[in-house]
Amino acid sequence: MRRPFVAGNWKMNTTAASGCELARAIAEAVPTSRDAVDVLVAPPLPYLDCVDDELAKSAVMLGAQNCYHEKEGAFTGEVSPQMLADLDVDYVILGHSERRHILGETDEDINKKVTAALAAGLGVILCVGETLEEREAGQTNEVLARQLSGGLKGLAADQLAGGVGGNDDLVLAYEPVWAIGTGKTATPEMAQEAHAFLRGKLAEGWGDDLAAATRIQYGGSVKPANAAELLAQPDVDGALVGGASLSAENFLPIVEAAF
Ligand code: G3H
Repeated sequence: MRRPFVAGNWKMNTTAASGCELARAIAEAVPTSRDAVDVLVAPPLPYLDCVDDELAKSAVMLGAQNCYHEKEGAFTGEVSPQMLADLDVDYVILGHSERRHILGETDEDINKKVTAALAAGLGVILCVGETLEEREAGQTNEVLARQLSGGLKGLAADQLAGGVGGNDDLVLAYEPVWAIGTGKTATPEMAQEAHAFLRGKLAEGWGDDLAAATRIQYGGSVKPANAAELLAQPDVDGALVGGASLSAENFLPIVEAAF
């Protein structure tokens, strides 16, 4: 049985004050007594510490939006997985399309980060997804297969399962690039098809047990109005929410839809 997992990716938004206030509102609404759904917020790096303080008495987990693959050294401006673990980070989002397309990250870069993050004891939310051009050219499955095998290259099933929050260490997020921040959402059928394809690829590469246990979130213009029908799909195990995670009014109904 896969426990639903709803994560809010704040991207490069909020201030220290507004981020802490948002975290407080979410923490108050998700007390420890309600543990049927995993909830996580991923604030900008400089606010991890204050957001962690706000989350302390709740069941809400702390996420980071990126990390580097080295432990330490002369890498100006970078942050290691160990540093994130020191700040109580539970999961790190890797391979987000904004990092692939704006910052130029390759599958090889992402693979190094995934490997380093898991080795440091962090959970990983690995994002994959096709562009509109790729979808229209009928290349969606090819792109998803390439990003999945590239991101997880060299990792065995036992390195991908068995840790954070009593669930699995690896979470996938299917985020069609054309649906991110655009207001265009994949239909529940499109999401289900992509998620089922990804689960099949996990089974081929890493075995049925890992495929059955791995949560796959959908991301791309998830909002209160469309969350329930997306989350009702059998292979959609949660959501990775961008814009709608920036207010408790929008984020909390999405969390509710996962219960
Ligand atoms: O990480 C989150 C996704 O990029 C989705 O963003 O909900 O603003 O479309 P969005």
